[in-house]
Amino acid sequence: MPYPYVLLSAAVSLDGFLDDTGPERLLLSSPADFDRVDEVRASVDAILIGAGTLRADNPRLLVNSAERRAARVAAGRPAYPLKVTVSASGDLDPVARFWHTGGDKLLLTTDRGADRARAAGIAADVAALGPGLDWRRALEHLHDVRGVRRLMVEGGGTIHTQLLQQGLADELQLVLAPLFVGDPDAPRLFGPGAYQGGRLRLVETRRIEDVVLMRYEPTAPGTGPLPSAADRRWLALACDLADRCPPSDTAFSVGAVVVAADGTELARGHSREGGDPVVHAEEAALATLGPDDPRLAGATVYSSLEPCARRASRPAPCARLILDAGVRRVVTAWREPDTFVEAADGSGLLAAHGADVVVLPEYEERAKGPNRHLLG
Ligand SMILES: NC(=O)c1ccc[n+]([C@@H]2O[C@H](COP(=O)([O-])OP(=O)(O)OC[C@H]3O[C@@H](n4cnc5c(N)ncnc54)[C@H](OP(=O)(O)O)[C@@H]3O)[C@@H](O)[C@H]2O)c1
Repeated sequence: MPYPYVLLSAAVSLDGFLDDTGPERLLLSSPADFDRVDEVRASVDAILIGAGTLRADNPRLLVNSAERRAARVAAGRPAYPLKVTVSASGDLDPVARFWHTGGDKLLLTTDRGADRARAAGIAADVAALGPGLDWRRALEHLHDVRGVRRLMVEGGGTIHTQLLQQGLADELQLVLAPLFVGDPDAPRLFGPGAYQGGRLRLVETRRIEDVVLMRYEPTAPGTGPLPSAADRRWLALACDLADRCPPSDTAFSVGAVVVAADGTELARGHSREGGDPVVHAEEAALATLGPDDPRLAGATVYSSLEPCARRASRPAPCARLILDAGVRRVVTAWREPDTFVEAADGSGLLAAHGADVVVLPEYEERAKGPNRHLLG
């Protein structure tokens, strides 16, 4: 099930705090950075905050620039993005500014929270998502029911921590402000818990007056059948690699990437790489790794087309090579059609031997791109 692109946005002090403990919101960004945030808001379909931020800051969460609102309207979008808040309790102040400024509002909550919020007269659509609130369910709701494709999450720390730890954040936009808070009771950006093991990818740094914007992308594959945001990016890379294959009328063009559990790229490959007319993408990638590489056991193989289950050109099909390498997780965009092999079912072979196979059909068209001439 596709989710919106999830962009976490926050400003922190040099000692890692989101705010102080005073009654007023601590202003961490500079004026030019607030304008950048306004620009990002204008680019998204929805802005989400946690109920803690709503209670602490009483924010409006508007697109302040009239030009940006006009541009949204000219593009056929509402002047303001949908404003979303998340609360388990439903214990929300009905006169908070959030409900009475800007465009449409939505409360994502539990069944119990919905009863409480409705009884309090909250001026918003209320979506009751069950006895507890599951983030995947919430993101599906935003995508499928509300049509949200890009979601900006503006804190606070509890929400950011959950989305990052659950592998659901596509991007982190972090602004570092040159001041200290120094109060151990102040809220931190990220709380304790299990984060991805390795390093995030630094995409951009930008000086904005006296603050620095850093944009990072999480890199860790999901676990088991659950896709992470990074799974999507790695699969998109595999699809890009498929575009690099020497053309063929007798074989598919496929790209593959092997990624360790901590998000380190271990290998990549594509069909007919290096002048070998029959090599497959997964085979080419795995061939660059030692068979005893301990990282393979926790690795994920991304392949634009599901690994083959039978082939004439080599004794072992790619599904078997993957299993023999010890890999037990595969993410793919496209199940193999009957073009060359009938009922190939590499995914079935992998699953029968205990591997998790995750199919992300939203990438199928991209995976088919370099293979159109084979598909009739
Ligand atoms: N510097 C910045 O960029 C920035 C940005 C935003 C916020 N902040 C600061 O961050 C602080 C607030 O952060 P916070 O961590 O206390 O609050 P928060 O993350 O904004 O919201 C936490 C609340 O969200 C709801 N919630 C969280 N996870 C949920 C789940 N899985 N299911 C259902 N509901 C869930 C709960 O609401 P209920 O209690 O109603 O159940 C929870 O109390 C404030 O001081 C604010 O100023 C700073």
